[in-house]
Amino acid sequence: MHDGERKELSFSTRAVHPVEPESTDGVRPHAPPIYQTSTFLFDNVEQGARRFAGEEEGYIYSRLGNPTTRILEMTGADLENAEDGAAFASGMGAISAVLLQLLSAGDHLVAGRTLYGCTYSLMQGILPRMGVQVTFVDATDITAVKEAVRPETRVLYAETPANPSMDLVDLEAFAALGRETGATTVVDNTFMSPYLQRPLDWGIDVSVHSATKYIGGHGDVVAGLAFSSADLVAEVKEEALKDIGAILGPFDAWLLIRGLKTLPLRMEKHSTNAQTIAEWLQEHPRVSRVRYPGLPSHPQHQLARRQNPRGLYGGMLSLEMEGGFEAGRQLLDRVRLCTLAVSLGATDTLIEHPASMTHSTIDEKDQRAVGISPGLVRMSVGVEDCDDLLSDLEQAMRGL
Ligand SMILES: Cc1ncc(COP(=O)(O)O)c(C=O)c1O
Repeated sequence: MHDGERKELSFSTRAVHPVEPESTDGVRPHAPPIYQTSTFLFDNVEQGARRFAGEEEGYIYSRLGNPTTRILEMTGADLENAEDGAAFASGMGAISAVLLQLLSAGDHLVAGRTLYGCTYSLMQGILPRMGVQVTFVDATDITAVKEAVRPETRVLYAETPANPSMDLVDLEAFAALGRETGATTVVDNTFMSPYLQRPLDWGIDVSVHSATKYIGGHGDVVAGLAFSSADLVAEVKEEALKDIGAILGPFDAWLLIRGLKTLPLRMEKHSTNAQTIAEWLQEHPRVSRVRYPGLPSHPQHQLARRQNPRGLYGGMLSLEMEGGFEAGRQLLDRVRLCTLAVSLGATDTLIEHPASMTHSTIDEKDQRAVGISPGLVRMSVGVEDCDDLLSDLEQAMRGL
């Protein structure tokens, strides 16, 4: 299928039909081949030299590029409406490579203050040690982001929805601020996946994913992806990815290509299940607060509706129990069908406690400041039968 033809097709169709590999020597397998090789053969010394000099297209060594990984990068970029993409060993591999590529000593980064714990610790620990100043702000408030910008600000960074507060960032306004100030905007799109949200469509420069989550979709691979302009992706690959080396292996890339095929189906079910569960939890007397962008009670519900025209708001939600930490702990210990585990975006429902698990790298005072109360419970709602999930929550809540 030619690029032009692909553009005519819907998301779901393109997800099912990955971009074809560049060179298959006349062999056209139905499933993409796994090029499980670290290095590639040259016909002769001249060819090797030409490839290293960039005078001839072709693979050299899998840290510099691999045909299976390339299918994933091109298919993902197509679905995210980006010119190109790069695959990494993990979401943190993608985030750190992109930031190290964009920032140098003396530069300044403005970041939304609610972030996945390791993204926060990268920005609070490693980047300042490298001479990069970081300011954390409430990114739901675009004026606060603007006020934090300095002449040396090079990057504006946010998650939306943020992990685990479920706060949203107005992508259009964030992108406009980046253009106005000359800063590159980077958005973590892990929670929504390209099926529900494409930050580049709103003018954002770079989107990053923990592809471990919805893109892989089955809880069996750790991976990262970054999407942007062809120029920026080429720079990241030629420097940060090549020299730091957090590359994705070909088998893991293959798992993600397979995961993408069912992404739309899964995201529909994750979202409808999460909506039903959020509405149920909201009515439950033992629950003091539910955070889910699909609820009219979410403070940014109107923004969620604008940014998610499909009317689907993903599978992630957070809840606070009456009775705080102890009640939250008991809920986690009493569920039988929901899986007590960190991570998210798998087919089964995962439930965890951010304060002691995913966000434990953030100290308690900062946790509170970013909306992580000791009793907060995070759910990644799976694609099980929703009635079974509700029965499990009901039995776990009974007698609390
Ligand atoms: C929003 C978000 N971004 C990034 C990451 C990091 O991804 P990985 O674990 O694949 O490195 C995570 C992990 O949970 C996450 O939830």
